[in-house]
Amino acid sequence: MTQVDVSPLFQPFSCKSLHLKNRIVMAPMTRQFSPGYIPNDDVVAYYRRRAENDVGLIITEGTTVNHPSANGYENVPAFHGEALKGWKKVVDAVHGAGGKIMPQLWHVGTVRKPGIGPDKEAPGMGPSGITSAGKRKAHVMSLEDIQACVAAFAQAAADAEQLGFDGVEIHGAHGYLIDQFFWDVTNERTDRYGGSLENRLQFAIEIIEAVRARVSASFPVMLRYSQWKQQDYSARLVQTPEELERFLKPLAKAGVDIFHCSNRRFWEPEFPGSSLNLAGWTKEITGLPTISVGSVGLEGDFLDTTFSGKDDGKPVPTRSFDELFARLQQGEFDLIAVGRALLQDPEWAVKVRQGRFSELKPYSKTAETHLY
Ligand SMILES: Cc1cc2nc3c(=O)[nH]c(=O)nc-3n(C[C@H](O)[C@H](O)[C@H](O)COP(=O)(O)O)c2cc1C
Repeated sequence: MTQVDVSPLFQPFSCKSLHLKNRIVMAPMTRQFSPGYIPNDDVVAYYRRRAENDVGLIITEGTTVNHPSANGYENVPAFHGEALKGWKKVVDAVHGAGGKIMPQLWHVGTVRKPGIGPDKEAPGMGPSGITSAGKRKAHVMSLEDIQACVAAFAQAAADAEQLGFDGVEIHGAHGYLIDQFFWDVTNERTDRYGGSLENRLQFAIEIIEAVRARVSASFPVMLRYSQWKQQDYSARLVQTPEELERFLKPLAKAGVDIFHCSNRRFWEPEFPGSSLNLAGWTKEITGLPTISVGSVGLEGDFLDTTFSGKDDGKPVPTRSFDELFARLQQGEFDLIAVGRALLQDPEWAVKVRQGRFSELKPYSKTAETHLY
């Protein structure tokens, strides 16, 4: 067997107060295993298992900020009230196992349908009330609604630092609330939150600035963003590197420390004429560290397995690491997030470090219906 050099993945990384032993990030993945919206001991054990097995940084499943309309799914953990006690147990368990962890702070916006708890009556809401189905059915956010959401993100970040988390990730991706402001299809506002690309950034900028004002200067603040939306997988927020620069620079100025650039396949070039992916371009434009993501170790992307609703029962075969190692080695991006491969196999990082590639498990959808 030829020896594969796995060292690009196992270099330390630092940003402000965050010091990681390697470049492996567990991607945020909604699990819906928190009854009463509180992470329980099974959730604690689930995250501890990944920390014990060499994952450098865990980003939690999306966890909802303290706003009545934030949640869109049952058994998703909240990030306020009683749930914070559950999160404290998670943080302590991950740190006890030598890992690092950040919560992914989430508001689903118009994706929410009333009837979902904990605030069952609360409406879905967004910049223009346009739902995931493209219909104008949800509540159009008033300035007071906007202020309440900004304050909820800031409070969640302050609570995260207080609980001992190693930073926060703000969920600005995949067509949820913050992304609904970014995207002109869901944002038809005519005030300072809508219209030009610069105006559509305003909501996120206010959140980032409010978060920064409530946490220590050394506390890392990450922003996840994506071109694709759960309402439209082929959507694009920006078409050119110049537009991407107009998108990123004000967000970086507002106080983002690390950008998490969500792709379905990390090896795909973002714009013609260069092999750089979205994380590569983001690093080039901002000079900030970036996280890439998308089908690491697997031959099929998550649309086929997770969001398509199809399950043909066939496992997704594993994929070579050569391209990932080459891109990391070149410094195109700093960190790589791993989603499904880490759901399937908590020991994934250890096996890769030890070169036990033949022991990596193909992905099967049953990994999504169990918490282990
Ligand atoms: C079961 C599941 C739940 C997910 N939930 C979230 C989420 O809460 N927040 C988020 O930003 N992305 C979420 N994603 C997307 C992943 O973070 C990741 O970007 C995607 O799965 C691609 O990585 P992979 O190909 O390594 O799985 C989810 C993906 C899966 C498979």
